[in-house]
Amino acid sequence: MADLEDVQTVDLMSELLRRLKCAQKPDKRLIFIGPPGSGKGTQSPIVKDEFCLCHLSTGDMLRAAVAAKTPLGVKAKEAMDKGALVSDDLVVGIIDEAMNKPKCQKGFILDGFPRTVTQAEKLDEMLKKRGTGIDKVLNFAIDDSVLEERITGRWIHPSSGRSYHTKFAPPKTPGVDDITGEPLIQRKDDNAEVLRSRLAAFHSQTEPVIDYYGKKSVLTNIHAEKNPQEVTAEVQKALSS
Ligand code: AP5
Repeated sequence: MADLEDVQTVDLMSELLRRLKCAQKPDKRLIFIGPPGSGKGTQSPIVKDEFCLCHLSTGDMLRAAVAAKTPLGVKAKEAMDKGALVSDDLVVGIIDEAMNKPKCQKGFILDGFPRTVTQAEKLDEMLKKRGTGIDKVLNFAIDDSVLEERITGRWIHPSSGRSYHTKFAPPKTPGVDDITGEPLIQRKDDNAEVLRSRLAAFHSQTEPVIDYYGKKSVLTNIHAEKNPQEVTAEVQKALSS
């Protein structure tokens, strides 16, 4: 743990103010679901900051495990490189652990989880044990034909997870992160060939999850083909009720 005496007073005060503001916000437990490139990862940080939630992206967590070559990462890598899904048990385990973190106290955004009906059922069990449930599921609905351009043009700043797009959200200097000046990279699975497998996995294994939540009356459809600002406005409207 950081020694608080080493933290600047101005930083301590702004964290205190943030926490006071967060205490007024309602708790929210959200799921963002949609195909690769539909904008889940773009909208999550905005909603996370507004409602003081934690952003739990199973894709980001798995990529960190692959990069660190942990036993989990070694098991996940082969499926991820091919655009297939990692086993339910692995991802359920990482979500269960992540939800216990203090930053998830006001609730969470699950981005990319659950992706199978089994994962959705296990999530229900997990939340039941905690005495809670899901408040809203936002379905980022979009036609497959739009996604190749979004995915192949995406560039990432690996340490922060910031995401850019050569056409739709370009960095100030090509190939360089706006905040740190560090180089951007492209994800290994962000190419047209692997995208086809990721979309096939989405249609066969994840679309039934959308029906699962439709039956529970917590589902709102978002028109994810609109521009990022319009999508943000729709997301905010869906979360305001
Ligand atoms: P994951 O990392 O979750 O990838 P994904 O679901 O394929 O989602 P993406 O991150 O590609 O898309 P996004 O919707 O976040 O798009 P973004 O906002 O960045 O999963 C990767 C792999 O991990 C899986 O294939 C699987 O192997 C494994 N995995 C993960 N979770 C798992 C689970 N639960 N079970 C089993 N396996 C699992 O946007 C994309 C681009 O478009 C960006 O460049 C952005 O700038 C741009 N953009 C965004 N919005 C707009 C807009 N409105 N208009 C124009 N451009 C836009």
